[in-house]
Amino acid sequence: MSAPGWPAVLADGPVLLRPYRRGDGRAWSQVRLANHAWLAPWEPTPPGRWDDLNSPSAFRYVLKELRHTALEGTAMPFGVFLTEPTGERFVGQLSLGNIVRRAFCSGYAGYWIDNRAAGQGIIPTALALVVDHAFTLGGLHRIEVNIRPENAPSRRVVEKLGFREEGYHPRYLHIDGFWRDHVGYALTAEDVAAEGGLLARWHRLRGPATNSV
Ligand SMILES: CC(C)(COP(=O)(O)OP(=O)(O)OC[C@H]1O[C@@H](n2cnc3c(N)ncnc32)[C@H](O)[C@@H]1OP(=O)(O)O)[C@@H](O)C(=O)NCCC(=O)NCCS
Repeated sequence: MSAPGWPAVLADGPVLLRPYRRGDGRAWSQVRLANHAWLAPWEPTPPGRWDDLNSPSAFRYVLKELRHTALEGTAMPFGVFLTEPTGERFVGQLSLGNIVRRAFCSGYAGYWIDNRAAGQGIIPTALALVVDHAFTLGGLHRIEVNIRPENAPSRRVVEKLGFREEGYHPRYLHIDGFWRDHVGYALTAEDVAAEGGLLARWHRLRGPATNSV
């Protein structure tokens, strides 16, 4: 049995989102190991050493857990890739998690990108693709993003897309060793319906960007 909206492959230009495969382990590990200092300040406190948790062999367990949550319908975990002449290049991850249905129909978005691919608008594009998918085939009504106040690049992602800043959550998540405050942003389906979705809004707002993929 599969959950609404899963599995799915989403694309806009060279930005491709798809479920992870077993063969992604080596690229995933290379990117995660190369980005320890870039990612650790914004990630849940790891239960062990970064190198062990992000080794090629650890990917087997990561994949098992992601597939389990996707099958039970509580997550949509996408790998983010760039389509290049030589093939797909793994650059990051964008997941919807904590999906609750019934009267809530809501999920939390989390994301990260390889610092060598940052600043090209890849994650805003990926987030817009996933939000539109969640609001249609995924059957969701609301997407939240919770961000540490000092994470200026991540706040720019949601602010550029027009997410609504809704609240301030003291000591909200255990990130990088401590309970950290977060700013809560959200969108509901009604917010983007008249514009033909979030990707259409992003294309319109972005215009002919020069440093973008
Ligand atoms: C937050 C993050 C996912 C943004 O992804 P992205 O694809 O680079 O997004 P954008 O290209 O839209 O860039 C967002 C902002 O980052 C900043 N930025 C641009 N290039 C950058 C670079 N090379 N390094 C750091 N920040 C950069 C800019 O302020 C940019 O905003 P602008 O477009 O108004 O100038 C990425 O910075 C990242 O992975 N950070 C570490 C993990 C993290 O914070 N995850 C989110 C937790 S809530």
